[in-house]
Amino acid sequence: MAFSCNGFLMFALVSLVMSSLLVAPAAGNFYQDFDLTWGNNRAKIFQGGQLLSLSLDRVSGSGFQSKKEYLFGRIDMQLKLVAGNSAGTVTAYYLSSQGPTHDEIDFEFLGNLSGDPYILHTNVFTQGKGNREQQFYLWFDPTRNFHTYSIIWKPQHIIFVVDNIPIRVFKNAEQIGVPFPKSQPMKIYSSLWNADDWATRGGLVKTDWSKAPFTAYYRNFKVTASNAAWGTNSAWETNELDAHGRRRLRWVQKYFMIYNYCTDLKRFPQGAPPECRRSRFL
Ligand SMILES: *[C@@H]1O[C@H](CO)[C@@H](O)[C@H](O)[C@H]1NC(C)=O
Repeated sequence: MAFSCNGFLMFALVSLVMSSLLVAPAAGNFYQDFDLTWGNNRAKIFQGGQLLSLSLDRVSGSGFQSKKEYLFGRIDMQLKLVAGNSAGTVTAYYLSSQGPTHDEIDFEFLGNLSGDPYILHTNVFTQGKGNREQQFYLWFDPTRNFHTYSIIWKPQHIIFVVDNIPIRVFKNAEQIGVPFPKSQPMKIYSSLWNADDWATRGGLVKTDWSKAPFTAYYRNFKVTASNAAWGTNSAWETNELDAHGRRRLRWVQKYFMIYNYCTDLKRFPQGAPPECRRSRFL
């Protein structure tokens, strides 16, 4: 009797644990999910795996990458960027597959002098080809607090999201011959490095090494990999942006977008790339 009662309790406990695993997306642990890949002790994991930092000094930057590869999903990470005079520094946070025809989905944060705005640079590579840059100012100081930067990657589109506000949509335009990342799994990468030849005001402002080391922080990594887990989210995560999502996107594009390859006629005198003509959201 006692035995079967325990057996039942055990069963109940196991089902409880199983169902919570199925419902909640796995909360990340940096020790389990990432490898520190360069910069020696400039990349560090703290607080039992809950916090990670990268730093950059005159000798080297640093970086990390995910142990796993992902094919579609929603990937959230909170970042707190290099504070103070971060001019010349670049914090890259991106997904990428391997090889010469790789796909890549990029966030890059270009530092600036104290009080001057960071630029959030985005790009999408398909089959090894990028040249799809869009750049934004942020509506907050990204060095004061952690903010959430997400990539929603589905067979229909890629959405770049900042604090749950969509800033960019790259739609699947395979129908008109534009390759879309949909078969090469990607790892998550991040690195902090010196790019003072181009990053700040096009390279005019150099890194001030007397302020080194420069440090960026990461926490609350979360992957929602399976399609099933999307069902409870708002419509724009499952399919198209809903009206609210489209309004937010237009707001960002109107007030914060500072560069869009689709409207760079000097660069594309023959006309914008085909995906630009297809969607009013690009
Ligand atoms: C840095 O600040 C200058 C002056 O406000 C601005 O023109 C530039 O876009 C900012 N960002 C970067 C990364 O250069």
